[in-house]
Amino acid sequence: MTTKIIKIELPDLSGLYEAAEEIRRGGLVAFPTETVYGLGANALDAEAVQSIFRAKGRPNDNPLIVHVADISMLEKLVTGIRPEARKLIAAYWPGPLTLIFYRAPIVPDEVTAGLDTVAVRMPDHPVALELIKKSNVPVAAPSANRSGRPSPTLACHVAEDLAGRIAYIIDGGPCRVGVESTVLDMTSEVPAILRPGGITPSMIEKVIGTVRLDEGVIGNNCTVKPKSPGMKYTHYAPKGEVIVVSGMPEDVVRWINQKIQQDEKECICSVVITSQEHLSQYGAKDALSFGSVHNPDEVAANIFRLFRECDHIGAEKIYIEAIPKEGIGLAVMNRIEKAAGGRIIQL
Ligand code: TXA
Ligand code: MG
Repeated sequence: MTTKIIKIELPDLSGLYEAAEEIRRGGLVAFPTETVYGLGANALDAEAVQSIFRAKGRPNDNPLIVHVADISMLEKLVTGIRPEARKLIAAYWPGPLTLIFYRAPIVPDEVTAGLDTVAVRMPDHPVALELIKKSNVPVAAPSANRSGRPSPTLACHVAEDLAGRIAYIIDGGPCRVGVESTVLDMTSEVPAILRPGGITPSMIEKVIGTVRLDEGVIGNNCTVKPKSPGMKYTHYAPKGEVIVVSGMPEDVVRWINQKIQQDEKECICSVVITSQEHLSQYGAKDALSFGSVHNPDEVAANIFRLFRECDHIGAEKIYIEAIPKEGIGLAVMNRIEKAAGGRIIQL
């Protein structure tokens, strides 16, 4: 299959017609959202949804998020919407917040991996919204990467992983947020964050009061079974070994520099992912900047692209400086710790 790339220059969205046609025909279209690129198919077409799993090499037990363009689409997918969910929708949709509801029978098992719940969100991106509207169906879409690879934040990342395996890639430029949406389970009495993302716990609390972090999200406890099936897989990972380093800034820099020198002696290709502020403290060829440590939004927007850059460099070891788990920093550190698979150095 040849993959056609459609470049969209806002505000002209006319290029989306043929891609929407492809969705209606049961085909696969990668498209930009405000978080990461998604790999979309008609959520009500079980065969189309199965082909998402094949293209990504995704395990069948990992359910998909359904993307909607308006509330009437949501209402058809779920059995009911509790008042707290309505409040969150009013506050944060369209936006990087996925809500879990009990599903209506119309939703195929392939989407929910057999669960009695369905995850739904309304993306805050003109291209995504228009694609859903023109398709006139809800669009199931996981991140548009091969399973296990970092989520794509540029169209070229999607092409790297999926060219030849899908019909269309819509290039809408870089994704603004850069990490995937917050997944919030609205079926438990106290809503639970199953995956931290662009909408922070305090933003949720402001609207509905108490919210809790699912045990699978807190710390890096690999023994707790996450409620969100996707969180159990090693994820987002570059090919090299990721080591997260946390502590006083000068200790962190010293520790990493020692490691790099040692690696160099052993002919191991190692890379540091660090803040703009610390960049000059490492050898120029060894270090990549994730932006300012004081600007977690910037770090979020850069982190997955940097993971892919490490692969291009051929990094065998990747040392990453931890950032505070505040605001979207919680989501960034969740992804970094997953990529590290437990290799966390606390100095
Ligand atoms: O920002 C995003 O959410 C992006 C863009 C494309 O919208 N999508 C995305 O999809 O990250 P994906 O498939 O890579 O991650 C979906 C996560 C997985 O961890 C999955 O297990 C969880 O949502 N999930 C989906 N349905 C669920 C359900 N019914 N119950 C619990 N977790 C669910
Ligand atoms: Mg994903």
